[in-house]
Amino acid sequence: MIPKAIKENIYWVGYIDWDRRLFDSLIPTPHGTTYNSYLIKGSEKTALLETVDFGKEEYLLKTLKMANIKKIDYIVANHGEQDHTGTLPKILEAFPESKIVTNPKCKDLLQSFLLVPEDRFIVIKDNDEISLGDKTLQFMIAPWVHWPDTMFTYLKEDRILFTCDFLGSHYATSELFVLDEREVYLSAKRYYSEIMMPFRTSIIKHLERISKIEIEIIAPSHGPIYNDPYFIIEAYKDWAGDSVKNQVVIPYVSMHGSTRAMVEYLSEVLSKKGIEVKLFNLEIADAGELLMSLVDAATVVIGASTMLVGPHPLAYYATYIVNAVRPKTKFVSIVGSYGWGGNTVETLKGLITNLKVELIEPVYIKGYPKEADFKALDKLAEDIYNKHKKLGL
Ligand code: FEO
Repeated sequence: MIPKAIKENIYWVGYIDWDRRLFDSLIPTPHGTTYNSYLIKGSEKTALLETVDFGKEEYLLKTLKMANIKKIDYIVANHGEQDHTGTLPKILEAFPESKIVTNPKCKDLLQSFLLVPEDRFIVIKDNDEISLGDKTLQFMIAPWVHWPDTMFTYLKEDRILFTCDFLGSHYATSELFVLDEREVYLSAKRYYSEIMMPFRTSIIKHLERISKIEIEIIAPSHGPIYNDPYFIIEAYKDWAGDSVKNQVVIPYVSMHGSTRAMVEYLSEVLSKKGIEVKLFNLEIADAGELLMSLVDAATVVIGASTMLVGPHPLAYYATYIVNAVRPKTKFVSIVGSYGWGGNTVETLKGLITNLKVELIEPVYIKGYPKEADFKALDKLAEDIYNKHKKLGL
């Protein structure tokens, strides 16, 4: 890849992964991603911020050669996950005088994942600074966005905040800076929902802290760089804040059409009441689209057929994921159908223990819905409507 100048003596030297379609063997990345590595040439020392994903070391070494780099003094690791550190051992080997600059938690992870020897580390504390001569790196420990080791690096003279995963997006582009705000907004929201949403409390705290420093550019380690930092800061405030929208998300699976008939009826009734409904057939739904919809929705209704004596595995899986990402959703209900019995509702209720939600009485029926069942769904829709109204939606 070609080194790209962000400002004088500051370069992007990362890798654009146009082909990547899955992250963590779980999360779809329909727009690929980038692993952003940054090179900062001070008047006395040179620093590399992050490396790139495992297996991409030849690209990074070639890019550094094109930037005419013969010596690296510091390799800053803002976070230990291997998409930013997988090539560290090779870079340490290529630049034997270089030291990894990081915090104690990240050091521990790097030693554990990559077997980096003790003498290759410089361990910093919150607010510590390292001088590159005419440029200064200041470190801000920022745990739990999204691992316990995460931190930011602030390049003081140029007012650039390097945030690693935080504020990033899985969006492959040859452009250095955000060009199409709408596209990047959606990719950043998808990324937030998949990676950051469980850590809303930490996010709010870190947003407050960075609001106190002067920032000209935010340079994350995935996706394009923000030359309007407030575009992404404001988006994060909205997503991580407490307010929800007048929306109901319905992930569902239906084996023989009964549960489908219920969720379709429920969505029509809700829609007539002015509530936006997002329906996800779990046979075909994109997990990222489902997670994105959870960022704002006031209510989630799980539609689940019973298979044997419990929830269909797709409903179980979706409920497990919803619980894991801890959306700010206020209300949950369950609808669906069984043949001869089972404990689907109780099993699904037991899967949402992370959520601070009020459970609205489920509608769980035998076989295909009949008149009384549709009436029960009318009542569920009315309950949802009234609860949304109480929230001022
Ligand atoms: Fe992009 Fe948590 O690694």
